[in-house]
Amino acid sequence: MTTVLVTGGCGFIGSAFLRMAVPQHPDWRFVNLDLLTYAGNPANVAAVAGAPNYVFVRADLCDEAAVRDVFETHAPEIVVHFAAESHVDRSIVGPRRFLETNVTGTFNLLEACRAAWRDPAGKVFHHISTDEVFGALGKEGRFDERTPYRPNSPYSASKAASDHIVRAYHHTYGLPVKITNCSNNYGPYQFPEKLIPLMILNALEDKPLPVYGRGENVRDWLYVDDHCRAILRVLRDGKVGETYLIGGRCEKTNLEVVGAICDAVAEIRGVEPAAVRRWITFVQDRPGHDLRYAIDPSRITTELGWTPEETFETGLRRTVRWYVENRAWVEQVRTGEYRRWIETNYGGRGA
Ligand code: NAD
Ligand code: TYD
Repeated sequence: MTTVLVTGGCGFIGSAFLRMAVPQHPDWRFVNLDLLTYAGNPANVAAVAGAPNYVFVRADLCDEAAVRDVFETHAPEIVVHFAAESHVDRSIVGPRRFLETNVTGTFNLLEACRAAWRDPAGKVFHHISTDEVFGALGKEGRFDERTPYRPNSPYSASKAASDHIVRAYHHTYGLPVKITNCSNNYGPYQFPEKLIPLMILNALEDKPLPVYGRGENVRDWLYVDDHCRAILRVLRDGKVGETYLIGGRCEKTNLEVVGAICDAVAEIRGVEPAAVRRWITFVQDRPGHDLRYAIDPSRITTELGWTPEETFETGLRRTVRWYVENRAWVEQVRTGEYRRWIETNYGGRGA
């Protein structure tokens, strides 16, 4: 059995990864290390929680001794590092926790690997990162593996710092690392502070749809399961010490995304699209709002044969349907019910 430590496995992408990988890999034993912050919800991994090859450990990556303990107890050979503070708006309001978790937390994890992995054979530290580390594009061009780093928000700067430390541990200590930088993800179980789930829920409830600025900013959208399939591909076939950019060649302005959500929700509600679109409200822009992100995924496509399976239309349809059919999850997240559950079951730690 290979032991795979997944950090942040109760968050949006980490839980999608576990729901996909745990049943696919009975030969791997998954240890999910998560602090269960506001973004971590045990309900996201309910589908795999009873699997014989899955265990959960509540721990804070910022707690060096706790991270070391996990390595001593479970001896992981593969680490897939998702855990992070992930929301740009929160990083603008309160950057400190972003530096702590994303930078120091990653550093603690690397140190634990360095201490535990005397022999690098068969080991992989896979660092999950974002295209936001490359900063903003103008109207033209796309990010690729040679694009210099130029992060603009406290979130992206903290992720850029973590990418650099990961790379340095490979260069200096020979730690077997792989880095992937992915574009914006969407799909089921995404916390409804991010654009797509927020707009779906508000559109279902006739609430204002707050579009920052003029809605002209562009993001490159990828369905979360396509990201997870790409991670599994890089884990299996990617070269140690290398970076792969992941994106679905799916650029949309925010206004296009919100319009598509309105149309999908209108269809489900059996009303005219205009009745939902009229809730679109232009609000004050985000400070330092990056104009455009776009990824050139040629490398992962040509070298590893990965391409996305979902189009934006099919992925969005699935996502809208999921939020309609999973009101209990939404209510639990909104009312904080899951926080009470965590306090009862795990003793009330966590942010
Ligand atoms: P998320 O906010 O949904 O989940 C983060 C998870 O990390 C939560 O379960 C949380 O409890 C856990 N966590 C936070 N601080 C922790 C700590 N100190 N110790 C242990 N666990 C902690 O995030 P997400 O959207 O699933 O993103 C996962 C990763 O993917 C992040 O590294 C993010 O930078 C990266 N990424 C996200 C996107 C996106 O569109 N969401 C795109 C590209 C890359
Ligand atoms: P978000 O989902 O926060 O992801 P990121 O900032 O990491 O790209 O935001 C996606 C885009 O949507 C971004 O350009 C900001 C914009 N946005 C809005 O216009 N309104 C909103 O309420 C939110 C949350 C985001």
